[in-house]
Amino acid sequence: MPDFVPVAKVSDIPDPGKITVEVGEEIVVLFHVGGKYYCIDDVCTHDGGPLGDGELEGCQIACPRHGAKFDIRTGKALTMPATQDTRTHEVKVDGQTVLVRLAS
Ligand code: FES
Repeated sequence: MPDFVPVAKVSDIPDPGKITVEVGEEIVVLFHVGGKYYCIDDVCTHDGGPLGDGELEGCQIACPRHGAKFDIRTGKALTMPATQDTRTHEVKVDGQTVLVRLAS
């Protein structure tokens, strides 16, 4: 299982807010909502849209390409045209640092 990797400072992400970060060779989206952090792939399962560029509403992110919505807490695909869930990654906060561990 991969290690946790530092990706941001707590102060980098407003609440609510999101940033796109690189972890190893992957690009993921880090969210801060309601005092909690979540992380999912930056890739829409419909056709590869960049989820980090989408609109965040509550705990849902809308793909900027065709509008599919995903739950940022679970990665669940909520609306068409996406039918497959996206990956989620573990997040933890250590002091002022936010760390992500990629799902294997
Ligand atoms: S690529 Fe995301 S909805 Fe089509």
